[in-house]
Amino acid sequence: MKILVVGGGGREHAIIMKLAESSKVDALYCAPGNGGISKYAECYPVKATDIDGMLALAKELAVDLVFVAPDDPLVAGMVDVMQAAGFRTFGPEKAAAIIEGSKVFSKNLMQKYNIPTAKYAVFEEPAKVLSYIEQENTYPTVIKADGLALGKGVVIAQNYEEAKAAVSEIMEDKIFGESGSQVVVEEFLTGPEVSVLCFTDGKTVKPMVSSMDHKRALDNDEGLNTGGMGTVAPNPYYTDVIAAECMETIFLPTIRAMEAEGRTFKGCLYFGLMLTPNGPKVIEYNCRFGDPETQVVLPLLDTDFVDIIEAIEEERLGELDVCWKKGSAACVVMASGGYPKKYESGLVISGLDDMGQTENCFVYHAGTKVNEAGEMVNAGGRVLGVTATAETLPEALKIAYEGVASISWKDVHYRKDIGQRALKALES
Ligand code: AMP
Ligand code: GLY
Repeated sequence: MKILVVGGGGREHAIIMKLAESSKVDALYCAPGNGGISKYAECYPVKATDIDGMLALAKELAVDLVFVAPDDPLVAGMVDVMQAAGFRTFGPEKAAAIIEGSKVFSKNLMQKYNIPTAKYAVFEEPAKVLSYIEQENTYPTVIKADGLALGKGVVIAQNYEEAKAAVSEIMEDKIFGESGSQVVVEEFLTGPEVSVLCFTDGKTVKPMVSSMDHKRALDNDEGLNTGGMGTVAPNPYYTDVIAAECMETIFLPTIRAMEAEGRTFKGCLYFGLMLTPNGPKVIEYNCRFGDPETQVVLPLLDTDFVDIIEAIEEERLGELDVCWKKGSAACVVMASGGYPKKYESGLVISGLDDMGQTENCFVYHAGTKVNEAGEMVNAGGRVLGVTATAETLPEALKIAYEGVASISWKDVHYRKDIGQRALKALES
């Protein structure tokens, strides 16, 4: 098979490395890819959001499968366009991708089908949001832009002033564009967070190994929200008992709800969960693999990835055993100094070999490129995901941090405490 992977981050690098293990794969292409991915797959400079350009590329390369990984082309309907042109695909159609594309849609879906989530209200006018928040008078309160916002469309306001500023930025200044035309105001939930990525063909759900993201930029969960500064898998808070409860109360009801709405979801559905004192609740759905969750989940996958993709496409996932390796995985993200705000790019990264790798770890590249002199340089906020698998989480973390210590560039920033909370949970 010849496969084109759409996207160019650490997640796509992890997808490509897992696809490369399959005996069914003859050639791997990626668009736009990045410096590290280009060592393993042929990269083409077509933007992930350029649907016409991507279709032309798929035709030119005569690929057998198009794997659409990022949220924006999925929400914009790239899968539908590829399918209409006769390509086999991985990823949900536009009608199903709305589960991530609109928070108003997903909250209404959960309410209609009794899927546990935070209490909420939807607004289109700034004045109405503010009078509601004033009336409720419970802080912190959570304000979310309806549409996609690079994972930054959520504000947790500690008081009325912060809420007012957030509403003004989202709805009036439109810092997330049309994504902010509607907002959801949500009850603030507490408890450990778990990411559960699930394979689904629209009928059967097969959860992957659970994981834990670290969204804040700085140690001890301080600083700004980011795309994710590191991950570990499995997530020790996610016990077998909780997993069984989530299957009954969240995963299956969601898949059935989407089917009932005529929006059958096929691909990877990501459940962002919070294990609250009142049971597991949905914080968010994503219509795709998570980043950097994929970097710790896919290395633990034992079953041929292409077999799973084919079973999903042919709606026979129920017949396939999806198996996982024992052990743990840890991914430490190395970011550009200043991220998630402004940062310098084009800085030469030292400590990587010709394949963009270091000893003992696998380095998934997120924001890199090869410059004219042939050097690997940073080209994004999140730059590398240094990842290790081992029998235990402490070992995986030790190896990953040894890898991190061998790599550097000017102003590099990474968290020193990835996995610490998971380790505490394992000890107790
Ligand atoms: P999201 O982009 O929806 O994943 O939200 C970003 C982060 O905000 C989540 O990972 C949570 O830590 C936090 N968050 C979102 N919604 C809530 C909520 N209702 N209560 C508490 N925290 C939340
Ligand atoms: N790591 C969170 C996400 O992929 O949305």
